Order: sequence, then C-alpha cells, then structure tokens
Amino acid sequence: MTTASTPGKVILFGEHAVVYGQPALAVPVFQVQARVSVEDAPSSAIHIEAPQIGLSAPLSEIGETHPLGAAVYAVLRALEISPQALGCGLRIRIDSSIPVASGLGSGAAVSVALMRALSSHLGHPLTDEQVNALAYEIEKIHHGTPSGIDNTVVTYGRAVYFVRGRPPETFQVRGRLLLIIGNTGIAALTRQTVADVRRLWEADPQHLNGIFAAIGQIVNQARQALEQGDIQRLGALMNANHALLQELTVSCPELDTLIEAARRAGALGAKLSGGGRGGNMIALTFPEQAQEVADALKLAGAKGVIVTELGGNDESGFERDALA
Ligand code: PMV
Repeated sequence: MTTASTPGKVILFGEHAVVYGQPALAVPVFQVQARVSVEDAPSSAIHIEAPQIGLSAPLSEIGETHPLGAAVYAVLRALEISPQALGCGLRIRIDSSIPVASGLGSGAAVSVALMRALSSHLGHPLTDEQVNALAYEIEKIHHGTPSGIDNTVVTYGRAVYFVRGRPPETFQVRGRLLLIIGNTGIAALTRQTVADVRRLWEADPQHLNGIFAAIGQIVNQARQALEQGDIQRLGALMNANHALLQELTVSCPELDTLIEAARRAGALGAKLSGGGRGGNMIALTFPEQAQEVADALKLAGAKGVIVTELGGNDESGFERDALA
C-alpha cells in the first residue's frame, strides 16, 4: 500500500484580488490533512472510495468530469499508462479531515495527495512541479478560474507569496504569532463568489481594479510586517483587507459576527479567508490572548476552531502542529 498526506491551507491576505494578478500570502495548516492510500486489488478495475463525501464507485463510472476521476486520469496520462495496461486493479481510498467548501483548500489537498500516492504506487513518483501543474488543472473543475494559490501552498507545504503565473516565493515570519481559524459552518462555493466578483468587475472595472490594487498594497505591506515581526501593523492590515473584501460583497453576517467577536476578545486583527460568504475567518493574536479569542469565537457560533502558529525556525517560516 502507498500513502500520501497533504495539509490544508489558509490565505492570510489577498484572496480574490489574486485572481486579477495581485499578490497573495498563504500558509499551510498541518492540523488538518488529506490522506490517500492506493493498493492493488484483485479485480481489474480502479475503485475509488471517499467516505466523507459518500463516494464508492469504479473510475469508469466516476468519469473525468469529477475532480477525483480527473486526478486519476491526469496521473495515468502523465505516466503514459492506460487503465487496461495496469495488469491489476487498484483501490484508492481518500480520507480527509479538511472541511469541504470552507476555504481550507480541501480540493487541492486531496488532488495533490491522490496524485502523489498513485504515481508512487505505480513506481514513477511525479515531481512537485508536475503535481502542482496537474493539480492546478483539477482546481479549474472546482473553481472555474482559479489563481493557483491553493494547489501551490499544499504542494510545497510552505508559506508562500504568490502571484499568478510566477514561481511562488517563500518568506520568513519573525516572532511568535498565533492564528485562530474559526469556521462558520456554512459551506460556500468559491466558484460562486469568484463568478460574482467577476460580474462586479465587468460592470465597473475601474472601481474594482482600484479595490484589487489596494488589496495588493496591503499584501506587500503584510509580507514586510511578517518578515519584520511587526505584529500590530499586521493586525491593522488584516482589518483593512477585510473591509475591502466586504466591499467586494464576499463577506456575510456570520463571518462578520465571528470577526467582530475575535476583535472584541483582543485579536490584533481579523478577516475572512478564502472565497468568503461562509467558510472560515482568521484572527491574529499574541499567544496570551489565544484562548480568550478561541473561546469568544465558539461563543459567537463558530462550528470549529483551529489554533495554528505562524513563525518559528523552519525553512518555510511555519512551525508544524504547534498547537492542537
Ligand atoms: O476558497 P478558497 O480557500 O479555495 O480560496 C479561494 C481564493 C480565491 O482568491 C477567492 C480564488 C483563487 O482561485 O485564488
């Protein structure tokens, strides 16, 4: 049996504007993971099981329009192997603790884990660059016009400064910062919010380009603040980014309630993360305030709270599994 695991991710700054060429910052979240195992099976078919979404069916039935089917076909094509030429059947099992449609990158994480496990099981592990490029194609099925940030962060498993179409840059985080991730429990489709923002942009490109440029400036200032350990400034930048996301109409009352609760409980800043209109928000705190902010989020209706640490000494500037 061959297995592969990939982390989830959160976007710290720059969602939506990143689709229009502005930079964005994102970090992996190792507290949630997608895990895929591949093993030989006695039958000649490739069978896919994903209990979290109630799927158990042969590949031929799932087809290529489904992201999981598309990911399997993408690997077979890249390795120039036809399902008939495998010589045995395969059982592919997907388990993920990353909530779907919540801005934590579950689709990208599953694609990347599946591609790694399957290509390794077939004796030809794909490189990170190959996996990233193929996972980007699968993201198009999920998102329509994805920027590529999700597949990039989960493929490389490190903090990235991302500009569409450019190689990702990694950055260092100075100081100890805790990020509290609060889930609204509302499943929101990024495809939908991205399409709605596009409609707004088509109706008034000048205004929307102004918002995107302002978000881009915030992202660049935030990268500097992260590298300098300027935590207060980082919090203020999060709040400013959220106000611009509200202008893009991608927040919602439930996100705003959690964001307000976090700020009142002492967070240095808070914003939505990802596509918006549901999914997750993030709040930045000093370690001393983390418990208070996490409790305030639960009290305000958060369906799940994850505390993760930014900073530390590893290469990515991100400390794995810092807090449960
Ligand atoms: O909802 P998520 O976490 O997959 O993030 C989407 C981020 C967007 O900028 C809204 C879209 C994209 O493709 O970058």
